[in-house]
Amino acid sequence: MTDLCDKEGFIWFDGKMVDWKDAQLHFLTHGLHYASSVFEGCRAYNGKIFKLKEHSERLIKSAEILDIKVDFDADYVSKACQEVLDKNNLKDAYVRPVIWLGSQNLGVYSRDCKTMFAVAVWEWPSYFGADIWEKGISLCWAKYKRPAPDTAPTAAKAAGLYMIGSVEKNRSHDLGFTDALMLDYRGYVAECTGANIFFVKGNEIRTPIADCFLNGITRQTVIELAKQAGYDVKEVRIMPEDLKHAEEVFVTGTAAEITPVGKIDTIEYKVGPATKKLHEIYSKAVRS
Ligand SMILES: Cc1ncc(COP(=O)(O)O)c(C=O)c1O
Repeated sequence: MTDLCDKEGFIWFDGKMVDWKDAQLHFLTHGLHYASSVFEGCRAYNGKIFKLKEHSERLIKSAEILDIKVDFDADYVSKACQEVLDKNNLKDAYVRPVIWLGSQNLGVYSRDCKTMFAVAVWEWPSYFGADIWEKGISLCWAKYKRPAPDTAPTAAKAAGLYMIGSVEKNRSHDLGFTDALMLDYRGYVAECTGANIFFVKGNEIRTPIADCFLNGITRQTVIELAKQAGYDVKEVRIMPEDLKHAEEVFVTGTAAEITPVGKIDTIEYKVGPATKKLHEIYSKAVRS
């Protein structure tokens, strides 16, 4: 089994660049016990990190939502991300900045804990594998639901929110699917475990309103690009029974980019022209 600790390279860790193997922390870390941890996933294309400012700003915002004190700003995050990318000599890579609370107090009270910040980068060509453009990925229904905004900090990209995502992702694999599609606390279609979802019918593209799950930076970019390309994009409430009316389905995310969906539970979809066209437009945008 590969162990991510054993890689060669450099990591930005608590204010300085360290050797990959030296980016360690103690197990009595507040972030580990109570999920006082927020993170970002960005992608670099040809040496430049796409939407870096937006990702850095969201990271800081996520920390604020979790009441994590941050005495640096989004520019500092961006600078660290770019420096790690350059130091590791990578051009096309995934970039993972994380803010978490340290080991100064192991009570639930967290304001005594030191705010930690680290960034790692690695090569990561495709999230879902190379054959997705033939059949698309398959989604099963998740059992867990996205919680209400007054139940969890749903606007933050917070580690704790991924607990149910991991369980559902694993379960989807056990059932022979690629990923799981989650409903929200009201029963509306929400998102996948690490990507937002879109439904195409003719010239109309519908996507769930992001009021209790991550409003993905890719989601926002794709909405803009699709509108510019002449599609009628609507952010609406979507019920599970609406899914049979879609002609194409795709998911979006920094890791997933634009990925076609070939099946949701028992409903099958073709990898269609709108998904292919938007993928082409998106691929140009990220490299421009
Ligand atoms: C749960 C979840 N939803 C949506 C997204 C898509 O967000 P973005 O496009 O900002 O990467 C992600 C990606 O990290 C995610 O983890």
